[in-house]
Amino acid sequence: MGNSSALLFRPGDLLTVDIEKLALLGRGVARVDGKTVLVRGALPGDRAQVRLTKIKSNCAQADVVALEQPSPDRVTPRCGHFGFCGGCDLQHLSYAAQVRWKTAQLAETLEHLGRLRHLPEISVVPMDDPWHYRNKMEFSFGQEAGRVVVGLHQKASFQRVVKIDHCWIAPELASQILQEVEAAAAGSGLSAYRPKEHTGFWRYMVVRVARSTNQAMILIVTNEGPRQAVEALAKQVTRRLPQCAHVVWGISTRVSDVAHPEKTELLAGSDLLEDQIGPLTLQMRPMSFLQPNLIQAEALYREILANMDLKGQEVVYDLYCGIGTIALMLAAKAKTVYGIESEPDNCTLARMNAGRNGLKNATFVCGKVEELLTRRGLLRLGPRPDVLVLDPPRAGIHPDALNPLLQAQSPRLIYISCNPAGLARDLQLILEREPGYRLTKLTLFDFFPQTSHIETFAALER
Ligand SMILES: C[S@@+](CC[C@H](N)C(=O)[O-])C[C@H]1O[C@@H](n2cnc3c(N)ncnc32)[C@H](O)[C@@H]1O
Repeated sequence: MGNSSALLFRPGDLLTVDIEKLALLGRGVARVDGKTVLVRGALPGDRAQVRLTKIKSNCAQADVVALEQPSPDRVTPRCGHFGFCGGCDLQHLSYAAQVRWKTAQLAETLEHLGRLRHLPEISVVPMDDPWHYRNKMEFSFGQEAGRVVVGLHQKASFQRVVKIDHCWIAPELASQILQEVEAAAAGSGLSAYRPKEHTGFWRYMVVRVARSTNQAMILIVTNEGPRQAVEALAKQVTRRLPQCAHVVWGISTRVSDVAHPEKTELLAGSDLLEDQIGPLTLQMRPMSFLQPNLIQAEALYREILANMDLKGQEVVYDLYCGIGTIALMLAAKAKTVYGIESEPDNCTLARMNAGRNGLKNATFVCGKVEELLTRRGLLRLGPRPDVLVLDPPRAGIHPDALNPLLQAQSPRLIYISCNPAGLARDLQLILEREPGYRLTKLTLFDFFPQTSHIETFAALER
């Protein structure tokens, strides 16, 4: 395997490597003379000629130049944009192999990064149909040959947008909306926003599709500019696609590349979209937090319930609760539920959703978990928890929150994670500081087929 070691570790060098496994973020891993080479686009089982692109002290990075022997798990990507678009990174790997490698990555991350021993066997919940599963997409406007286009950011680029005609992981309706919005924006005479120069008008489009009704809501985010252009777009899109009756206009003048606008205005329909998640009817706005894959979210919520053994007398805390989905699912089975959430509008919606579902035993507190637990003694002064559910963002639990969480001595902890590295770090800290806890269940829910993202459910008991 490999060429002479004298060639290694100079950018531009060509090597022939065998890919042994898949790293987090979907890159192939090869070992050359004892060094790790991370190869973009390569899959376990590939033998490939690669060109080194970056040399770091602990590893090198490379791109595939030619496949000498393809992996038996390689498949033809469904999407014509695959490889350019920054959305999916594993469409060229068979679905069975995606799930197998994600499970291996999760185990390796917990064992090596989190130094966790004696892990329970990881259960896996794959999707029956791993396509068209996302209920929310954030597209960007770009400019191609002088025309406004709508698409997704090019791989590893914040500047360039790849025009998308059809997205295989979004509902069909989202692709239809994309085409209509693109046609309307292109006919407006206004250009797409250019981040480098901070000029241009059209910036982002967020599409949300309710799974239970196939009704959609869009948020069109622009720079400051003519209102009539967005009104005309809203009129054209809602007329041509009656399932997309709700249009919100957001204005963002910030340079940063995030779709969250500074102000919003309703142009058509309502700024609330309703969907059915398990037994709950939930309302959300374009930027509210809701799990992007509701088929898998429902399976995850069933798993949470199954692991709690609620008898109706329990006090449950749902930390990082979003619009209240888990808290409200549990409220029907527990005595009292407290949800904590930092985004004020998510909190408002959680309260509205409690009312909408006739649940009176759920209380939602707005604030950062770490601040509420340390400065306001939320867990220390409030009723003792029987179950703590933790579903933090990618960064994991804030270090300040960990001790007060453990001092609450909850008999059960449920940790839901979208980032194996954060999960490994937090589980290691929890088990070191409170050795009374035992990790009893680990389940990988494949929320994000065709991408390298991993969602995990972990249950701890003491
Ligand atoms: C992964 S989502 C969990 C949502 C929810 N459990 C669900 O299943 O829909 C994380 C949530 O935590 C919120 N959040 C982020 N940082 C936070 C913090 N420091 N304190 C409280 N909430 C936070 C985010 O706004 C987001 O709604």
